[in-house]
Amino acid sequence: MKLDEFLRLNAPEDLARISLAISDAAVTVSETFPFKSGLVGDVNPSGDSQKAIDVYSNEVFCDALISTGLVREVASEEMEDAVHGKGDLSIAMDPLDGSSNVETNNPLGSIFGVYSDPLPCSGRHLAGALYITYGNSITVTLSFGKGVHRFVAVKEGAGMSFQLVGLDLKVPDEPKVYGIGGTRTEWIPPVRGFVDSLEGRGMRVRYCGTFVGDYNQVLARGGVFAYPELVGRPRGKLRVLYETAPVSYINEQAGGYATDGRRNILDIEPASLADTSPAYIGSGPLLRELERLVSSSTVRTGA
Ligand code: AHG
Ligand code: MN
Ligand code: MN
Repeated sequence: MKLDEFLRLNAPEDLARISLAISDAAVTVSETFPFKSGLVGDVNPSGDSQKAIDVYSNEVFCDALISTGLVREVASEEMEDAVHGKGDLSIAMDPLDGSSNVETNNPLGSIFGVYSDPLPCSGRHLAGALYITYGNSITVTLSFGKGVHRFVAVKEGAGMSFQLVGLDLKVPDEPKVYGIGGTRTEWIPPVRGFVDSLEGRGMRVRYCGTFVGDYNQVLARGGVFAYPELVGRPRGKLRVLYETAPVSYINEQAGGYATDGRRNILDIEPASLADTSPAYIGSGPLLRELERLVSSSTVRTGA
C-alpha cells in the first residue's frame, strides 16, 4: 500500500497532507547529501556549528510545511524563532539529525513533532510524530496515536513513492541492543553501573552517533538508547521539542517507555524551544528499571 493511500484511510486530512509534504521533501533533501556537507560558519541556537546541509534541509522542510497552509508555525533546531503560517498545527523539527555523519556516510535522520498547541508545549500535545532515516534506503516511521507504521521510498517513474513495509511496529520487551551518548567518564554513576550490567545480560552495543539511527535499532531489536545526564551536563544534549518528545511519542505508541531519569519525557514542559533533557528511551521493563535507578541515586547534579 502506498503512503498516500494509507494516510487517506488512517489519518486526519491535515496530518496526512503534512506527512506527504515531509516525505516528498525528505527525498529532495537526500539528493543533496553528497554536495552540501561543509560548514557554513554559523551556529544554531544550541551552539552547534551549522553545516550547509543543516541549513538547506531546514529551508526545504520549512517551505514544504508552510506551503501546506495547515501549520501555525514551524520551529526548528536550526532557527532561533519559529516561522509562522496560517494553520492550526505547530511543527517542531530537527531537519537533519546526526549531521556530523554526513562526511562519513553514516546514517542520518530527520525528526518531526506535530503539536496541536502553540510551542513550546509538552509531548502530551503531540497529534503525531514522524522520523526519517537516510540509510541504505529512506524510511518514514510515523504515528498519529494509533500505532507505529513504516514506509520505504521506492523508485516510481522519474521520482520516488513510499510503500508500507511495517504495520503496528512494537519495541520488543526482551532487550538486545544499547547505545549511550556522551562518554563513560561523563556518565553519572547510576548510568555507568546500569550500562555495565547490560553486557552481563548479553546485550550488544549499537551506537552510530545519530539519534534516530540508534533509536531505530532499539525499536527493531529491543533495548535502550540514551543520551544521559552527564556530570558536566545535567540537562543532557538532546532537545525535547525537536528530538526526544517526538521519538518518545513513537516509542510509547510502540509499547515502550521513555524517561528523563525521573518522569516520562512526554510530561516535560519545555520552558523554551531549544530546552534539552536527559533522554533514556526503549523497551518498557528495562527503562522503568533505569528510571528507578537514576531517580533513587543520591548523586544529583541538579538537572
Ligand atoms: P544533531 O546533528 O541534530 O545536532 O544531532 C546530533 C545528536 C544526536 O543525533 C546524537 O545522538 C548525538 O548528537 C551524538 O552526540 P555525541 O556526538 O556527543 O555522541
Ligand atoms: Mn539531532
Ligand atoms: Mn540536527
